[in-house]
Amino acid sequence: MKGIILAGGTGSRLFPLTKVTNKHLLPVGRVPMIYHPLQKLLDAGIREILVVTGTEHMGAVVSLLGSGRELDCDITYRVQDEAGGIAQALALAENFCHREPMTVLLGDNVFEDGIGSGVAAFAAQRGGARIFLKEVPNPNRFGVAELDGDRVVGIEEKPARPKSAYAVCGVYIYDAGVFEIIRTLRPSGRGELEITDVNNAYIARGELQYELLTGWWTDAGTFDSLRRAQSLVESLAEGGDA
Ligand code: G1P
Repeated sequence: MKGIILAGGTGSRLFPLTKVTNKHLLPVGRVPMIYHPLQKLLDAGIREILVVTGTEHMGAVVSLLGSGRELDCDITYRVQDEAGGIAQALALAENFCHREPMTVLLGDNVFEDGIGSGVAAFAAQRGGARIFLKEVPNPNRFGVAELDGDRVVGIEEKPARPKSAYAVCGVYIYDAGVFEIIRTLRPSGRGELEITDVNNAYIARGELQYELLTGWWTDAGTFDSLRRAQSLVESLAEGGDA
């Protein structure tokens, strides 16, 4: 199992905090944001990790994480030349993965649960995809899953009228077939190769399973959600110190 952290994008929703640095280097708790997804991979025993980010701040990301030696892991880097979507960034991981499955984390997702049990469940699932859902009050900001019993029957990206309250979290486990799927994608209305289209392709094949995150979950890509991530992480740290 390989680990991939997608840390590209312009961070425009956090401007001017992101004028001279990458969103994923902003502080969340006592560490830069990207430490949170990295720690989730390490806790799940994943030690071969690819970080994808844009050209502008790759230097700073490498200065921060280096080879991974201090964290007892191997970190590889790939440059996403322009912001073309999550699936486009993931396509850059094909050689790195060597046909192995991968756990993909969006660098701005901060959450409480560990992912080790999800990784183990994927191993028992004979390939395909595994996604993580969380019930949220504002699903229209996210990919939203339509459920039928224990199956996801479709996902809509930022729907005006969500068919459920279950957001698709930025945590995905895929087999190596994901790269064939990405090659079939066309850019969406916002000009991006959408991870939601990847997941819908797995649904169409009957190869997507899901689980619910039970602890708190947030992205940290807007001022409101960054503040929320800060306070959730701080409350966890306080609980841990007590
Ligand atoms: C992306 C995905 C969306 C997912 C979200 C999780 O949204 O497109 O499906 O729910 O991450 O953070 P974006 O960050 O591009 O708005």
